[in-house]
Amino acid sequence: MANVTVIGAQWGDEGKGKIVDWLASRADAVVRFQGGHNAGHTLVVGDQVYKLSLLPSGIVTGTLSIIGNGVVLDPWHLRDEIAKLEGQGVVINTSNFAIADNCPLILPIHRDLDGLRETAAGSGKIGTTGRGIGPAYEDKVGRRAIRVCDLAHLDDLESQFDRLCAHHDALRAGFGQPPVDRAKLIADLKEIAPSVLQFAEPVWKRLNTVKKAGARILFEGAQGVLLDVDHGTYPFVTSSNTVSGTAASGSGLGPSATGFVLGIVKAYTTRVGAGPFPTELEDAVGQRLGERGHEFGTVTGRKRRCGWFDAVLVRQSCAISGVTGIALTKVDVLDGMETVKICTGYRLNGKVLDYFPSHAADQANVEPIYEEMDGWSGTTAGARSWADLPAQAVKYIQRVQELIETPVALVSTSPQREDTILVRDPFAD
Ligand code: GDP
Ligand code: IMO
Ligand code: MG
Repeated sequence: MANVTVIGAQWGDEGKGKIVDWLASRADAVVRFQGGHNAGHTLVVGDQVYKLSLLPSGIVTGTLSIIGNGVVLDPWHLRDEIAKLEGQGVVINTSNFAIADNCPLILPIHRDLDGLRETAAGSGKIGTTGRGIGPAYEDKVGRRAIRVCDLAHLDDLESQFDRLCAHHDALRAGFGQPPVDRAKLIADLKEIAPSVLQFAEPVWKRLNTVKKAGARILFEGAQGVLLDVDHGTYPFVTSSNTVSGTAASGSGLGPSATGFVLGIVKAYTTRVGAGPFPTELEDAVGQRLGERGHEFGTVTGRKRRCGWFDAVLVRQSCAISGVTGIALTKVDVLDGMETVKICTGYRLNGKVLDYFPSHAADQANVEPIYEEMDGWSGTTAGARSWADLPAQAVKYIQRVQELIETPVALVSTSPQREDTILVRDPFAD
């Protein structure tokens, strides 16, 4: 059976949540495999709007939803997000939701450190979501994280807390902060533990069982390839690998499980937070894209920076992540524009580049080379079939797929679940 791995191919917020929700009814399990509650995935179903940061988007359709070991989990946020969704009528119980018991936790000291570092960084500020993601991943690879399974053993973790506090106390002292209040931290963890432990299990085992039974698994990426800690616009990235391959290591299934890699691509470009952005538009056109596309961050409410479609970046993301096909979203935001531009290459120090260089200064200095096309006066908004699209919009989509050297599998034409055009079924064998 085919599995599908959904990843963002730009700087996040491409519309992954909408596409995962649309695909979820045809999947047997939906799995988050990296990131944490820095993600903000918006699902619109009729007049209901669901905003998910940590829970897999499959939870809304009642599909088995799993948080894999590659995620960093804030237990207090988990409790609140579950309560919020239950308030919207979503059913969450141990038969449709599970958390990997080897998932590292995001603790309040991680959030503190995230904020302290950003404040101290001056011009080096990354513009993080402030949710403790980076510090939590650091503690994971530093082998001092407290993990979900530890919540059942909080009285036997002395040496682990020693290691954790020795590290954090030194850092906190450097920022003029008092040492970690270890007794309070343990008491708070004891209080929150039951709400997490009820869902905790070795999810690799459950996933391998459902896989053997022929289940279709849908992996839900967070962020985007350009925010990947290796392949992204370092250091202006997040602290996890966002590429498709992480679906395997972040869930406990082998690399062949990733199946069809569906790259989610916005018909223009946005970015939230600091860092290079070659096609950024700081003019009325950028303003218009932001307004029409409602480009405000789901997590922080920050205004997203907007610009033209950058085919160089998306071609690179698709290559790096082995994208099989893309879902092109928010084409409707371009409706009514007289002309549209696509970046097809860069100029740097008198040379033409067909890729995005690795060095931050080069990334900041590349000059986009544009191709201009006529826009379309008709509307794509709400279209559900290829035949409903204006001819010039079809031309734009075809030019995009040519330039990124990857076929279009889906087109999304509004925030609504059903306003989606299927070109090639990613679940088809
Ligand atoms: P994600 O982080 O990749 O899941 O994306 P976000 O949810 O942060 O941002 C995408 C936004 O665009 C959300 O508000 C969606 O409801 C909305 N959206 C998704 N697809 C479309 C589309 O095709 N057209 C329009 N106009 N909005 C869309
Ligand atoms: P979704 O899943 C867009 C950005 C932050 C910042 C950088 C590092 O909704 O696409 P972090 O808090 O992760 O250490 O911040 O990454 N960022 C996102 N931008 N969409 C996201 O998630 C993001 N998650 C993190 O703005 O620039
Ligand atoms: Mg988002």
